[in-house]
Amino acid sequence: MLDKINALKMEAEAEIVKNQEELDAFRIKYLSKKGLFSILFEDFRNVPPDQKKEIGQRLNSLKQQIQDKYNLLKESLETQNDKSGINDLTRPAFPYELGSRHPISIVRNEIIDIFMRIGFIISEGPEIEDDDHVFTKLNFAPEHPARDMQDTFYISRISEEDSSPDDILLRTHTSSVQVRVMQQQKPPIRTISPGRVFRNEAISARAHCIFHQVEGLYIDENVSFADLKQTLLYFAREMFGKETDIRLRPSYFPFTEPSAEMDVSCRICGGKGCNVCKYTGWLELLGCGMVHPNVLKACKIDSQKYTGFAFGMGIERATMLKYQVNDLRLYFENDIRFLEQFKTSF
Ligand code: PHE
Repeated sequence: MLDKINALKMEAEAEIVKNQEELDAFRIKYLSKKGLFSILFEDFRNVPPDQKKEIGQRLNSLKQQIQDKYNLLKESLETQNDKSGINDLTRPAFPYELGSRHPISIVRNEIIDIFMRIGFIISEGPEIEDDDHVFTKLNFAPEHPARDMQDTFYISRISEEDSSPDDILLRTHTSSVQVRVMQQQKPPIRTISPGRVFRNEAISARAHCIFHQVEGLYIDENVSFADLKQTLLYFAREMFGKETDIRLRPSYFPFTEPSAEMDVSCRICGGKGCNVCKYTGWLELLGCGMVHPNVLKACKIDSQKYTGFAFGMGIERATMLKYQVNDLRLYFENDIRFLEQFKTSF
């Protein structure tokens, strides 16, 4: 009996297994009900009682050895088949997924950076504002359509018919922050106000009810339209490249006089005309003008002594021009596949 146990032990030890079939064959050969171990175990009945203890222990330890070998073989086969490499201690670490900034943040930071280089500082104000700061102090006539429910999200309105300086609303532009700055500081003032603004628009590829602006204000003695133009030309070239040109078209805003809209030369075709600029060679970017004396007066700044310029642009618009992403909705959906394309150090 002992010889048989040793023989089976040696046979099992010598077995080599290369694949799943061979592993199954190993189990059937040694460990199944009709396997070699069970057959050997049948003989245990015939062992004389005085040897039963020793032979029994030997049989048990043989069974354990075969079972251990089986488990080991199974495990090593699984490791070999593991394509994920998770059990391979020599594999390189998984690449570390870096997050990315939102394109709106990238462009906002870039705009801020450009203006900070020429001495503008950042000012911020509340998104929930009153009519006084968003409209009245900015020379909007009482019946101006921008105050209408069509454009403005009101939180509380004192009278349904007439607007009141105390009406509470979501700011429709960050010019309201500049009113607060003018009320609190004395010229010279050189500030930019980035922030979120709200307008009651149907959401489409070209419009959204929430968007972002950066508005700028410079007030000092002898500030002229030439200063405005030079500042905007500097900005456009820093933002869109040294070859960029600007064009100012007359426009109207209640808070500036004269007012203009600024276009930048199309960076895709270099001004020759393409489908991005609709074959005009120009892309509209921002509104600007000389601060209206009524605005200075309303904020208790001496309009005889001081003049100033202001400008304001949509960050989504600037981002569209920079990255040619023409559907506004993409900026708000937060689809990882879209956002991942803006990996940058900014
Ligand atoms: N506040 C204007 C807007 O929201 C932009 C602007 C700012 C225009 C300053 C002129 C001067 O459209």
